[in-house]
Amino acid sequence: MRHTIIAGNWKMNLDLEESIELAKSISKNIENKELNSNNVKVIVSPNLIALSSVVNELKNTEIQVSSQNIYHKESGAYTGEVSAKMVKSAGVNTVIIGHSERRAIFGDSDQEVKSKVNSAISNGMDIIFCIGETLEQRKSKKEFDIIKAQLEQGLLHLSTEQMKSIVIAYEPVWAIGTGETASDSQAQEMHKYIRTVIKDSYNEKTSENTHILYGGSVKPSNAKGLFACSDIDGALIGGASLKADVFCEIINIAL
Ligand code: PGA
Repeated sequence: MRHTIIAGNWKMNLDLEESIELAKSISKNIENKELNSNNVKVIVSPNLIALSSVVNELKNTEIQVSSQNIYHKESGAYTGEVSAKMVKSAGVNTVIIGHSERRAIFGDSDQEVKSKVNSAISNGMDIIFCIGETLEQRKSKKEFDIIKAQLEQGLLHLSTEQMKSIVIAYEPVWAIGTGETASDSQAQEMHKYIRTVIKDSYNEKTSENTHILYGGSVKPSNAKGLFACSDIDGALIGGASLKADVFCEIINIAL
């Protein structure tokens, strides 16, 4: 049985103090909501500087914390990078991998994404695995091929057992931070397709048990329609996760 996941990707926003403040406001806002018994899981993803402090701030709450990135090596001469083991030592057990900003701006190739997935898995971490097509690719009707290729190249080498650690986030690049959202039917169509790809690679059970989030300009005004779609299990939210009241409004829609 799948639950609903509402994940906030804070990206490179908020300094240490602001991050702690936002975490505090979110937890205060949804105090007594009994997320677990309502089948809703909330995750926030601060920048690395704030990771440990936000974990500490949220330690007695039902809200989980994820990292926005890891490097695939365990340790060594990789200036500026952080490993799965290091974020785990800060009390974080989930990581976002393959975000389109990582792919487009920092050159994370499918091979690199796959290596990061393997590193996270061998460190026992859960993964929010992001995929999405560009506007150009959609216009040339390549969106399904692109999504399938991203899944095959970064994820589908995992075993059925390892797939239990995976949450997929479908984030069409043209909808990220643009204010433009995929329509409910466009999103549902792609989520259903992703489920079919998983079924063909594994089995019906794995396909039905895998959470697939939508991401790309999710806000209170479009969350209801998206969450009502049968193959959409929640959202990965950027801009609208930076204000506690707005983020919590989306959580309330999911509850
Ligand atoms: P957005 O970002 O909600 O600001 O579009 C989503 C994401 O990149 O995860």
